[in-house]
Amino acid sequence: GKGNHRHFMAKEIFEQPEVIGHTLTEYIDTMDNRLALPSLPVDFSTLSRVTIVACGTASYAGHVAKYWFEQLARLPVEIDIASEFRYREAPMPANGLAVFVSQSGETADTLAALRYCREQGQKILSIVNVTESSIARESDAIVPTYAGPEIGVASTKAFTCQLTVLALLALEAAKARGHLNKAEERLSVRRLMEVPRLMSDVLAHDDLIQAIAHNLSKARDVLYLGRGPMYPMALEGALKLKEISYIHAEGYAAGELKHGPVALVDENVPVVVIAPSTVLFDKTVSNMQVVMARGGRVILISDKKGIGAAGKDAVAVIEVPECDRLTAPLIYSLPVQLLAYHTALAKGTDVDQPRNLAKSVTVE
Ligand code: F6R
Repeated sequence: GKGNHRHFMAKEIFEQPEVIGHTLTEYIDTMDNRLALPSLPVDFSTLSRVTIVACGTASYAGHVAKYWFEQLARLPVEIDIASEFRYREAPMPANGLAVFVSQSGETADTLAALRYCREQGQKILSIVNVTESSIARESDAIVPTYAGPEIGVASTKAFTCQLTVLALLALEAAKARGHLNKAEERLSVRRLMEVPRLMSDVLAHDDLIQAIAHNLSKARDVLYLGRGPMYPMALEGALKLKEISYIHAEGYAAGELKHGPVALVDENVPVVVIAPSTVLFDKTVSNMQVVMARGGRVILISDKKGIGAAGKDAVAVIEVPECDRLTAPLIYSLPVQLLAYHTALAKGTDVDQPRNLAKSVTVE
């Protein structure tokens, strides 16, 4: 059931501290603060490239992971959506790993991309929430997420569990490739173990986010901006908003603003800026100032330091705890989800069953 919540989506958003905690403890030695992933059929130290393929929200988890694998493990990563990847006849490297991310494990395009990668001689690793699924069965190895059943059509807790597993894999790869010593491993693991508590802190701001969403619900178009791993977070924020509130929303890399989208900005277009003080903050803030100079109404999602430095001209701010580049995507997912949820609630749409959408997309 929905517990005390009005919708499955709300229940699933509020379950995140618990399911992230569960997923972490499956893959961490908590006595020792060490990684404890199952043995995988891949040697990260000699791997030439990782190709990550998925659809929708799961693809945005993969897109965040690209930043982690490249920065932490110095491992080249390609990310694509399955419906494009499967038909573009991509040449694949010898000794490559293909990673598929899917809540249901049944998404038709993702499964077809998996079969293509197998034919191309890639090792196949899948991150699935349903372990008895087609994608799980056809993989060389799976690393399950422990989100529990996700009923709401809009993916929330499955997404953050996918991010959690991908963060752990990136750390494992970094370790195998000599970029993470024992002390750094312990520190990173400890930071991840703090995520459930930090998530609870964000969830405590639910009322404030609801008030901001009340205004957002009157908009016709909304832009989301971010840089680095917050770029896929902007894409995810826009997807979540459009699928459940039916408000047109676009996510952009903040640096891309001046190459076109800035033409859209006026006082009628709210712009959600996702900018932790730790990740390319000054660069994102300068893009935000361009938006404000054009009359755009900025909703800034940042930490205390970021809000202190750049929040004064924003129409609204959402403060989240300070976090590092590994944990930020996990923490920042929550305000983005709550903003979409409360906007949909204010509009009175069917949050758990948005029109035209199915939970599992088994057709092409
Ligand atoms: C959006 C959403 C979809 C799914 C996508 C992939 O909220 O839920 O974009 O993420 O259809 O589904 P799975 O993960 O089952 O392959």
